[in-house]
Amino acid sequence: MSTINRIGLLTSGGDAPGMNAAIRAVVRTALSQGVLVSGIERGYQGLIQGAVIELTSRSVADTIQRGGTILRTARSDEFRTPEGQAKAIATLKRYGIDGLVLLGGDGTFRGAYDLTQAGIATVSIPCTIDNDIACTDQSVGFDTAVNTVVEAMNKIRDTATSHERTYVIEVMGRHSGYIALHAGLCGGAESILIPEVPIDLDAVCDRVTFGYRVGKNHSIVLVAEGIGNDSKYNRNPGESAATYVANYIQTHTGLETRITILGHLQRGGNPTALDRQIATRLGNEAVNLLLRGEAGKVVAMWQNEMRVYDIMDALAMKKAVDLQLYELSQMLSSV
Ligand code: F6P
Repeated sequence: MSTINRIGLLTSGGDAPGMNAAIRAVVRTALSQGVLVSGIERGYQGLIQGAVIELTSRSVADTIQRGGTILRTARSDEFRTPEGQAKAIATLKRYGIDGLVLLGGDGTFRGAYDLTQAGIATVSIPCTIDNDIACTDQSVGFDTAVNTVVEAMNKIRDTATSHERTYVIEVMGRHSGYIALHAGLCGGAESILIPEVPIDLDAVCDRVTFGYRVGKNHSIVLVAEGIGNDSKYNRNPGESAATYVANYIQTHTGLETRITILGHLQRGGNPTALDRQIATRLGNEAVNLLLRGEAGKVVAMWQNEMRVYDIMDALAMKKAVDLQLYELSQMLSSV
């Protein structure tokens, strides 16, 4: 018999399309088991401040298709302090919250670990467009972000073709290149630059000029925002990755080059069916775990199957970018 009578739910860190689908699954799974649900607004900061609302089935009506998070999110420096965590735990006790489901990225997981160590029953779900969480190959929000970038590439390809220009498109990913790699492959980028692979801008220039020589009338170079941060590269402080690369191409090839920085476009939009499916399955399983008395866990997808990890193991895991995918993309656009 479960001792869980009330589950808390929060979203933390960067928002990700699909979070609302996960929230909906958590709320309706819990209610179906006679368990009440408290929504905590604005992530850990809201937990510290006691920003708690009752969530009913109607609270999550007409949300599965919406990007963003109805619980809103925020980053919280205060939660990194013992005093902040004590306030957060006091909120949980004050509202009779027996278990907590947390949606977010690595930073969220580190907070969940701290709460677990303090005796709070937690289950975390990887939600970030970056897909840089090692225990999953598909974080909630990643598929939608990749599709957003591919759509943008299609649009830019139209004008690049009309003007016979080279375009450098910058995508998010923080210090990782998963969005750039997957969108670059699916969008047919001539070159993809990611932090996980050393940069060779002369090789990029060669690929661009080769393209024009063999009859291509435009080029798209997709760059992850985190490239060139190593001191061995001469990317100027405060200079965007796209500007750094575009200036080099224009200077060394003389080709007319333009840049587009997609920015927070990649964080919004209606979640794809895949993100909705992943979010729904993981939200449902997170509640089931808590009701089975399993806590201090992360529930995630790996090769389209759900896996459950101890939060500490999840935080310790490493994953590498798929270099075969990278080489495939480079080969296909250099023939
Ligand atoms: O972690 C998600 C992410 O979108 C990163 O890709 C990006 O670098 C960062 O968040 C932007 O953070 P903010 O929304 O605080 O500007």
